[in-house]
Amino acid sequence: ELPSYTEAIEKAQGAIHRFPLIKVQGVPLMEHIAHNWSSIWAFRPDPSDILISTYPKAGTTWTQEIVDLLLNNGDAEVCKKAPIIARIPFLEIFSPPPIPSGLDLLKRMAPPRVIKTHLPLQLVPEGFWENKCKVIYVARNAKDNLVSYFHFDQMNLTQPEPGPWDQYIHKFMRGELAWGSWYDHVKGYWKEREKRNILYLFYEDMKENPHREVMRIMKYLDLSLPGDVIGRVVELTSFKAMKDNPMTNYSFIPKPVFDHSISPFMRKGEVGDWTNHFTPEQSQLFDEDYARQMEGTDIPFRTSI
Ligand code: A3P
Repeated sequence: ELPSYTEAIEKAQGAIHRFPLIKVQGVPLMEHIAHNWSSIWAFRPDPSDILISTYPKAGTTWTQEIVDLLLNNGDAEVCKKAPIIARIPFLEIFSPPPIPSGLDLLKRMAPPRVIKTHLPLQLVPEGFWENKCKVIYVARNAKDNLVSYFHFDQMNLTQPEPGPWDQYIHKFMRGELAWGSWYDHVKGYWKEREKRNILYLFYEDMKENPHREVMRIMKYLDLSLPGDVIGRVVELTSFKAMKDNPMTNYSFIPKPVFDHSISPFMRKGEVGDWTNHFTPEQSQLFDEDYARQMEGTDIPFRTSI
């Protein structure tokens, strides 16, 4: 039995507001996550479970849809069956009842499951590593990631108030947004990618050549699918297709959680939108700070930061 998010959200209305952030082991997380931290940390995945991890707004939903389609042999009916968050639960999200929480959904599903998280590596429940689960990480260049998060924090009425743009840049640089520092997030997974067999992807690579990146994901998942299936997966996961698909465009999460009239979830889906937001001064300040925070790392972000 799949949840109707619209009905559940209507019932939960009184309990929905912009939640403050509370630090868990130094990482600012939404209050409802921090309050339920012990049950999230205790989650035991099955070795067959697959984890998709990202800093928020790095291309999570896109990757979720690709993985789900690959696992279902490119069957378009699959992506129309249920909202993306019901097919691939969000591990740490604790929603006001009766909106289903990630752990509730996972309890109802039999492995192998695909699971979404935004947790930095050190907060990922240890069972994922002990069981050698497959982990796909997606990183997006800092400035576009920031811009996307800024718009999202305006339309997601459960996230902390983003405040004005200029201050938001500083919050991002200081790691004061939900799920903490982008810099620590991308570096944490990068450092461990070989030891822990993490598939580390880049949003920009996916934009440049989705076919190539879908193939990489397919191989990592030990699948072998014919060319026409890969082609179909690429088509079904284009920005336009996902924007038009009610099961992936988050229209199933209406107000008072997501206000799509402020900014649609599927906003632009481009590389380099930061140039429309940063002034030259802001860009320079950001770059100087970026050089400091990323010093000594060799993460191959290909686009300008
Ligand atoms: P923009 O705000 O820059 O448009 P997440 O799923 O991690 O929340 O990331 C959302 C971002 O990924 C949004 O970025 C969204 O438009 C973009 N996105 C979602 N699906 C996409 C797709 N199929 N192709 C390209 N970008 C996509």
